Amino acid sequence: MEESSMAEKQIKLKIKRQDTPTSVPYWEEFAIPYVPGHNVISVLMEIQKNPLNAAGKKTTPVVWECNCLEEICGACTMLINGSVRQACSALLDQVGTELTLEPVSKFPVVRDLHVDRQKMFDALKRVKAWIPIDGTYDMGEGPHMAPRDQEEGYHLAKCMTCGCCMEACPQYNPRSTFLGPAPITQVRLFNLHPTGALNRSERLEILMEEGGIAECGNAQNCVRVCPKDVPLTKTLAELNKDVNLEGFFGFLKK
Ligand code: SF4
Ligand code: SF4
Ligand code: FES
Repeated sequence: MEESSMAEKQIKLKIKRQDTPTSVPYWEEFAIPYVPGHNVISVLMEIQKNPLNAAGKKTTPVVWECNCLEEICGACTMLINGSVRQACSALLDQVGTELTLEPVSKFPVVRDLHVDRQKMFDALKRVKAWIPIDGTYDMGEGPHMAPRDQEEGYHLAKCMTCGCCMEACPQYNPRSTFLGPAPITQVRLFNLHPTGALNRSERLEILMEEGGIAECGNAQNCVRVCPKDVPLTKTLAELNKDVNLEGFFGFLKK
């Protein structure tokens, strides 16, 4: 590209801003010179360095969250031109130079594009998404895991709790009790592990409670937006079977 035309080209942004968790959101427009190789985070950093809006008026720097900058932590998840995705991996050469940025709608806004994903982490706690060990001493090698389970677990372990699937799920919203696709599918990961399986029933029982797997409407929106290709709907179907068997044998045990 000719240097002169590159200098003329601009990146135009329309950003949904919100000053406090309870204040009314508003839109603000920005324009910065185009430089090849930008991603959405580097554009936001440019605005942070020199926070002037498109009218040339000084404004507050836009607030967002990021950490890894390589689509691993999920912190920079936002709506970019209406689609939920990570800002760090959104290259302008792919998403275009006219951007509309909004915070995701399923978690409360902290400020501007920064949201509080605590509800998703609380749901992971509720389903006991961990493997308990009973001490810090060396207990030797753990039990072997079948390669088929390792393979399935690997794909589930790729979840980075970004919340894209929660944003896309019609059953999940800030007021619903539904645990949501990401925390539910992690039950399968921890139940597959030979040590984690010791708490298998407890986790499945939680999925039978209010907000559990029965509230999934099988719309399959979640799997379409997952940036890590976590097999969400296949796993939800497997868990449905696990929950039904657990309910049946649990009833016989009573
Ligand atoms: S399952 Fe996929 S979309 Fe959902 S939180 Fe995990 S990585 Fe994100
Ligand atoms: S399949 Fe279930 S979890 Fe996934 S989007 Fe639909 S309702 Fe939500
Ligand atoms: S900064 Fe970690 S996923 Fe974007």
